[in-house]
Amino acid sequence: MLKTTFDGLRLENPLMPAAGPLVGDADKLRFMQEAGCGAIVTKTISTAEPHIPKPCIYGDKSSVMNSELWSEYPLETWLETFLPEFESIRDQTRPLIVSIGYTKEDMEVLVPKLDSFADAFEVSTHYVGKDLSKIAAIVKALRKHTEKPIYMKISPHLPDPEGFAKAIKDAGANGIVAVNSLGPTMNIDIASRSIRFGNEEGFAWTSGPVIKNLALATVYKIKNAEPSLTVIGVGGIATADDVIEFLLAGASGVQMLSAALIKGKHLYAKIIKDLPGALKKYGFDSIEEVVNTSLANDVVYKGHVPTLMEDKCIECMLCEKVCPYFAITYEDKITFDADKCFECGLCVMQCPTNAIHMPGLE
Ligand SMILES: Cc1cc2nc3c(=O)[nH]c(=O)nc-3n(C[C@H](O)[C@H](O)[C@H](O)COP(=O)(O)O)c2cc1C
Repeated sequence: MLKTTFDGLRLENPLMPAAGPLVGDADKLRFMQEAGCGAIVTKTISTAEPHIPKPCIYGDKSSVMNSELWSEYPLETWLETFLPEFESIRDQTRPLIVSIGYTKEDMEVLVPKLDSFADAFEVSTHYVGKDLSKIAAIVKALRKHTEKPIYMKISPHLPDPEGFAKAIKDAGANGIVAVNSLGPTMNIDIASRSIRFGNEEGFAWTSGPVIKNLALATVYKIKNAEPSLTVIGVGGIATADDVIEFLLAGASGVQMLSAALIKGKHLYAKIIKDLPGALKKYGFDSIEEVVNTSLANDVVYKGHVPTLMEDKCIECMLCEKVCPYFAITYEDKITFDADKCFECGLCVMQCPTNAIHMPGLE
């Protein structure tokens, strides 16, 4: 029921960890295996030593900001300790995706040494810039040294996801991991008149539920532009419903990090456990059925004035407070002024008791 297959990789379920601190050594990779993740992804391995400001992870209810870079451990530690250690206890039914970065020259060093451990490679382009010819050159350098699937990870600051998709497809990659964290972003502490958190330039990168809508749109854009590419969706996933949304947008598998940082690491096992119930709730028999479902988009230009279900209304007046068109008043009961109402739908979404009805916004 939960299986998904792409580029010859067979996953027992679509959820993977995203590259980050929770997959930074052999014990953590084992944790993800024991949590039941469909595939395991490593922290990004590179050739240079990262200089990571501390603190480097800041989280609130719906977002995470980080100034972490790539793995703090050198390539040799991965090659001599973490990867052999993980290999010795590895459940071979879960593909291992090795995350690497960043330049064409890095690929020449990293891929020949890491290839025997990897079932696929994921390449962070976070610090590569916007030049698509450079990104294509990275794919070509990688392809010279491996026949395994290659997934290029796109960062939200790249302006042209469709162009990125075409460039990496033409260069020989199998797909895209969309998206990395969003930035640069900033966090200010008024009391100390200082930047609370970030790198030397004052910036950090934002992830978690707050970026989910952006990530969904990027997945959708890429899949529509280049349907033959595999898309792995990541950015803000926190529930089994979120997983289904990413698959409907065009992903074949998904990754998660930030929600587990702010809610706890048990979230991986919980989402996998919740997935069958979520599929059933929405009338799907399998993950494959979700992946193969095309997303409808029924845009209309004439909506409806809302109606009130009086038995549900608690007269909290929130709808009146939020209405941007001043169309809601109270005269014995909540009343919608049809002349002023712009049929925007905001009151429907804000009502705490679902007392406002508007066709199309069920
Ligand atoms: C603390 C932290 C460290 C991260 N490190 C990496 C990394 O080493 N390589 C990478 O490609 N992405 C890295 N990311 C980005 C995540 O893999 C992921 O793409 C992003 O956070 C969006 O997913 P999420 O909202 O589920 O966290 C990191 C994110 C965070 C929060």
